[in-house]
Amino acid sequence: MSNEVELIKSRLDIVDVIGEYVRLKQAGANWKGLCPFHSEKTPSFMVHKEKQIWHCFGCGIGGDIFEFIQKIENVEFPEALEILARKAGVELSRQSRGMPANKRTRLFHLLAEAAVYYQEQLKTNSIARQYLAKRGVSEDIIKEFGLGYAPAEWDKLSNYLRNKGFILEELFNAGVSLKSDRGPGLYDRFRDRLMFPICDIQERVVGFGGRILDSVAREAKYINSPQGPIYNKSLILYNLNKAKDYIRSVGYALLVEGYMDVIGVWQAGIKNVVSTSGTSLTSEQVKLLKRYTNEIRLCFDADLAGETATGRGIDLALSAEMEVKIITLSQGKDPDEAVRFNLSSFKQDIERALPIGDYAFAAVMKKVDVKTREGKKQAAKLLLQAIAKLPDPVERDFYLKRLARELEVDEKSLRESLPVNKGIVITQLPAPLPSERPSREQMLAERFIVLLIKFGHQLWSLAKELEPAMLTSPLAELYRQALLQYTENQRFDFNELKNEFNNEPTFNRLIDVLCIRAEHEFSDFSLPEAEKELARVIHEIKLGYLKRQLKLLSEAITAAEQAGRTTELENLTLRYRELTQQIAQL
Ligand code: UTP
Ligand code: MN
Repeated sequence: MSNEVELIKSRLDIVDVIGEYVRLKQAGANWKGLCPFHSEKTPSFMVHKEKQIWHCFGCGIGGDIFEFIQKIENVEFPEALEILARKAGVELSRQSRGMPANKRTRLFHLLAEAAVYYQEQLKTNSIARQYLAKRGVSEDIIKEFGLGYAPAEWDKLSNYLRNKGFILEELFNAGVSLKSDRGPGLYDRFRDRLMFPICDIQERVVGFGGRILDSVAREAKYINSPQGPIYNKSLILYNLNKAKDYIRSVGYALLVEGYMDVIGVWQAGIKNVVSTSGTSLTSEQVKLLKRYTNEIRLCFDADLAGETATGRGIDLALSAEMEVKIITLSQGKDPDEAVRFNLSSFKQDIERALPIGDYAFAAVMKKVDVKTREGKKQAAKLLLQAIAKLPDPVERDFYLKRLARELEVDEKSLRESLPVNKGIVITQLPAPLPSERPSREQMLAERFIVLLIKFGHQLWSLAKELEPAMLTSPLAELYRQALLQYTENQRFDFNELKNEFNNEPTFNRLIDVLCIRAEHEFSDFSLPEAEKELARVIHEIKLGYLKRQLKLLSEAITAAEQAGRTTELENLTLRYRELTQQIAQL
């Protein structure tokens, strides 16, 4: 199959393929156009002819021709393969075609078995149980949500399921196992993780999310089942199976960011709560919610990723003609924390959810100083965009007046510069496949590498302050190689680094995308500005890293205390003190 992929790629030019869907204009080595996956006025969608990849700087997604076709046609890989094979005149072998539907039932059985297996494992794993207890998850909730534990072994589940009569292909298609690079075998996708089964509306398990127990491990905090024959991420909302009746009776859906938020909020008695499963929200998910209610309240984390997700949620809800309100937490960084800190204040936050107009005003006024001329211009631009999205003309009028008042400018001129409502256009856009959401650590690590590519040579003494171990993988490996290269040759050449990774496609693509980002995101940064940004990014990465270490240490201390290991306890406590000081000095 990979031969066919390569053959197809060699016969097609990405600029032609994408050019059929997007009007592209040449800009240097790249081609540029308006992104088909989000609505925008100035082009931030780039196609790189030489590297045969695409990337949108607006919504942050990208890939090769296959990923483009999957997203734009809203199909899965096998269909994208067929579409492109036809275009390229490549005859596909039988095994590359889609999977017959009657085999799906077996996959549902397999996933149900896997869920039970994880639940059984949790019963006998005290570390995982302690973790849940520490986070305040009750026994009843563990049962109710079918939480489990994937043991820290390579192929225990795979073997267990094979003994039950499932074949390798089924394990792979269900997403519980991965094909190993060496030999013909499979290994378990989820190892040493807390397991959250994800169900569809018919209460069937269709996939899993798995959380790491150890807070400093270099792997992703959560991993999720991949998209597959029975798990379509854009059609599933976590907990909708249980929440749907509550959503109907309460009158709105509370949309939070993650598994633990859903569980925490549910346990606190607020049951109209759902989340996506490690992806950004899709229009299908919004339509799904619309079956039960006409209102969504968004309650995302109080960080940059949360803010982006809020913007996306607003647009999607509006284009589905739903009402949407935004909750700002008065305490805690996410809903799970908020309910534990102070349930009544969280309930109040929910009651005080802001309509989007008010939310947009609050957000812009927080960022922009409207006393200055520049600030007025910026606030007007941002808020006019937001106002234009409002479906109700009375509401638009209300906020226009308010804007004129707050900026002390003429209402008429504001009205004239109000952009044309694009709401209808959004509805007709093809729904992009959800992409895995990068963690905050990952976003920072990427920003660090991008700065390194662009300014590393000049800002070397500052950059080398950071240790590779503080970055998330695979960026840590990339940085490690870059450090070696610099120490040897006093220069950076990320393209050359590709050889160090034996031309692995994922690494190559990562490097390509980061290089393009370096040009795009920092093209107008002066050296002092770059230095300031680099210092900020390094500081945040260090702080995050040390805090994760601290958390791990405190877990180790609790364990040592409980086991009565006193010498170890002393050492750990000492380390803990050192680390706290280090953090204080940052
Ligand atoms: P958060 O990092 O906010 O985690 O990610 P959380 O849900 O609050 O979990 P705790 O409290 O740290 O245990 C929010 C959601 O984003 C997805 C998961 O669905 C997660 O629940 N995510 C996050 C991933 O898919 N992968 C990651 O590496 C991180
Ligand atoms: Mn959390």
